[in-house]
Amino acid sequence: MRSAVPLVPKPTQSKEGIPDFILEELSRSADPVLRRMTTIDRMARIYETRLWYPIVLNVYGGFRSPSLAQLIETVSQKVQTTKGRVLDVACGPGTYGRRIASPSKEVFGIDVSMGMLRQGAVYTAKEGIPNVHFARARVEALPFADGVFDAALCCGSLHLFADTVIALREMARLFRSSLSPQEAVVSSSFAGYGSGVSGITASMYSTFLRCSSI
Ligand SMILES: C[S@@+](CC[C@H](N)C(=O)[O-])C[C@H]1O[C@@H](n2cnc3c(N)ncnc32)[C@H](O)[C@@H]1O
Repeated sequence: MRSAVPLVPKPTQSKEGIPDFILEELSRSADPVLRRMTTIDRMARIYETRLWYPIVLNVYGGFRSPSLAQLIETVSQKVQTTKGRVLDVACGPGTYGRRIASPSKEVFGIDVSMGMLRQGAVYTAKEGIPNVHFARARVEALPFADGVFDAALCCGSLHLFADTVIALREMARLFRSSLSPQEAVVSSSFAGYGSGVSGITASMYSTFLRCSSI
């Protein structure tokens, strides 16, 4: 992650140029999602292909669910006027973040899966996208100083976090003080009815919101 943004703390290791802020052994984590990280690492190569994304959208959202291209368009519109730094939380291979990066929007993608991040780095290099940086970190402990971001994306992931409120609070810590969370977070989730992530349950993966209560 080469950038002018202060990283806190300093990364412990750097694999293939991707800073790593996670010290613990995730296979022993109390969080079942984190324990499955090797599977997520392995999925990275097919994640954005026809073998995964459209199938998952249809399974969760039905055959009328929006396509990835439509979802990307929706997210892009939400941050169209944002200038500065955008955090892509649980970015996968930068599925949304790398597509909204521009000369006026610098994107920082964090994820727990090194496989996803590596794949993201491969795509950004191949697609010649500047202004995208990746780091391995948990949403619960984002390795950035307070108030350095202008917006955050959190797509397809809120339902995976052990504590959604902690995750949203940690994101909110990073926004410039002039921003309210309502202006700053663009999110979507696969969350289903009764999952406990109320307010974002209506139409899976196609519900985008500006978080209104952090
Ligand atoms: C379904 S993918 C979403 C990827 C991308 N944002 C998208 O919308 O296509 C969920 C991602 O969340 C990451 N993840 C799960 N729990 C996490 C946590 N506690 N902190 C950071 N990333 C996490 C996984 O590694 C995975 O890459």
